[in-house]
Amino acid sequence: MPTDAQLSLKTRKILLASLLALVCIVLVYAAFQRDRPWVVPEEIKKLKNPVPPTESTLKADRGIYVEECAQCHGEGGKGDGPKARLHFPAPADLTDAHRMNSVTDGEIFYQISEGRKPMPSFKTRLTEDQRWGLVLLVRSFSTPLKTPTSEKKADAVGKAEAPATNP
Ligand code: HEC
Repeated sequence: MPTDAQLSLKTRKILLASLLALVCIVLVYAAFQRDRPWVVPEEIKKLKNPVPPTESTLKADRGIYVEECAQCHGEGGKGDGPKARLHFPAPADLTDAHRMNSVTDGEIFYQISEGRKPMPSFKTRLTEDQRWGLVLLVRSFSTPLKTPTSEKKADAVGKAEAPATNP
């Protein structure tokens, strides 16, 4: 016959073991949540951005971003918005060029359209053009943007340099 003291020791051991098991489950779950890949249909992955990167679209998209996205993703896309810490998994760092170069425009468009908890879906909140515009803006966080004007400048520089590097 176990005494009360023995019983409570056994109970405590069981409790401790369950607690450890629970901690492990939570850690494994958290790890999986963090690295879940986005499953994007192939035909959407391949879509080309139909919205040209003009100064005026980018300005409008900047406004939408500040309204709808910055509270989580931060003004500059670093994932440090005022609400970022309330969410798990945390909003991704959109300035990480390595990360962003591994996804196509179509994938970013899909991510913005569908969302994934805790990120909301913007399919009904924003038009297709607005979402494609945000793809341009999101890209600009990790890669300097080529607006039509800066592209011309880059071209001119390229031509001016060409004879020097290749006499
Ligand atoms: C409620 C906070 C919240 C809002 C608002 C929000 N996001 Fe997110 N976003 C997240 C979180 C959290 C993730 C990571 C989700 C995941 O990995 O499951 C994410 C992921 C993303 C990704 C994918 C990045 C990656 O590599 O995982 C993109 C792109 C993105 N958001 C863009 C936007 C844009 C553009 C807006 C505004 C139209 C927006 N988000 C609004 C929280 C938010």
